[in-house]
Amino acid sequence: MLYPIIKQALFQLDPERAHELTLQQIKRISSSPLKCLLRQSVPTKTVTCMGLVFRNPLGLAAGLDKNGEYIDALGSMGFGFIEVGTVTPRAQLGNEKPRLFRLVKAEGLINRMGFNNNGVNNLIENIKKSHFGGILGINIGKNKDTPIEQSIDDYIICMEKVYPYAGYIVLNISSPNAPELRTLQFGDALDDLLRSIKNKQAELQTQHQKYVPITVKIAPDINESELIQISDSLIRHNIDGVIATNTTTGRELVQGMDHSSQIGGLSGRPLQLRSTEIIQKLSAELQGKLPIIGVGGIDSLISAREKLAAGASLIQIYSGFIFHGPRLIKDILSDI
Ligand SMILES: Cc1cc2nc3c(=O)[nH]c(=O)nc-3n(C[C@H](O)[C@H](O)[C@H](O)COP(=O)(O)O)c2cc1C
Repeated sequence: MLYPIIKQALFQLDPERAHELTLQQIKRISSSPLKCLLRQSVPTKTVTCMGLVFRNPLGLAAGLDKNGEYIDALGSMGFGFIEVGTVTPRAQLGNEKPRLFRLVKAEGLINRMGFNNNGVNNLIENIKKSHFGGILGINIGKNKDTPIEQSIDDYIICMEKVYPYAGYIVLNISSPNAPELRTLQFGDALDDLLRSIKNKQAELQTQHQKYVPITVKIAPDINESELIQISDSLIRHNIDGVIATNTTTGRELVQGMDHSSQIGGLSGRPLQLRSTEIIQKLSAELQGKLPIIGVGGIDSLISAREKLAAGASLIQIYSGFIFHGPRLIKDILSDI
């Protein structure tokens, strides 16, 4: 495959620039006669989860296609599902650049993007133009300038707009790069959010004659009692699924490496074990009452199998895709 050669050139560039260039190129190729270069045939391995039929259990995690601009190009590589976003009600620039760093030796990334996105209306316009045959997840968040006490309003605004277009919806309450966002994972803040979202889901179900599952994406940086409380809240509110995990603020495994002291969320191989532990504990706590989508450091067939063995029904990749390219999708799906 070409990726190892392309990667050598891309890794000479600033990471965010390399991301943008690659995505623009694959989009260009996917709408040209050369689109067969991107297309990968992968075995069908159907999984039914949250009432949805996934053609295979491997998805693209949120954050790579924040505005839904590359759905068809990414879809042609074999993903069973693609999660777009995080999207917020209004467009916002995100944090100052540079805000994405490679930890090459560790095969990790640190990002503090800060929900840079073109707003929910733009995302919907892009989704309308797409033809992806898999399941589309839409990941929603709050604008930076919305006070944390009013964050429910932002989730509701996004939810109302994306509902007709989503296979499932994700409440992102676990990015370390949006001030105070992670506080929504705990106590009354979580209960209040989930209650409002479930009420709105019932309303939208009647309006659109369609049930769209709601999932919650959680952080790996939670202790045992927080994990128990979150699980209890998800069950009580009949949430349809949980995505574990987002990036970590921990740096234990990357001490002393270039860029390791950058502020932001760490992803990729250094997150692998931590995320699997969270999935294991969640699985024990949830007792199959809601499914887990496992994400964090999957970079091989074995690490994908570990997530499933820990209790995940579906899995997602992001950093592994950056370090290993589209071949990783095929390697995982061929033998999973
Ligand atoms: C550059 C970058 C941007 C991300 N943006 C988002 C985002 O907008 N929303 C979100 O829920 N997760 C986001 N994530 C987290 C990923 O979806 C995923 O949960 C995390 O990276 C762990 O998976 P990985 O180790 O396979 O990368 C982002 C990750 C990276 C590396």
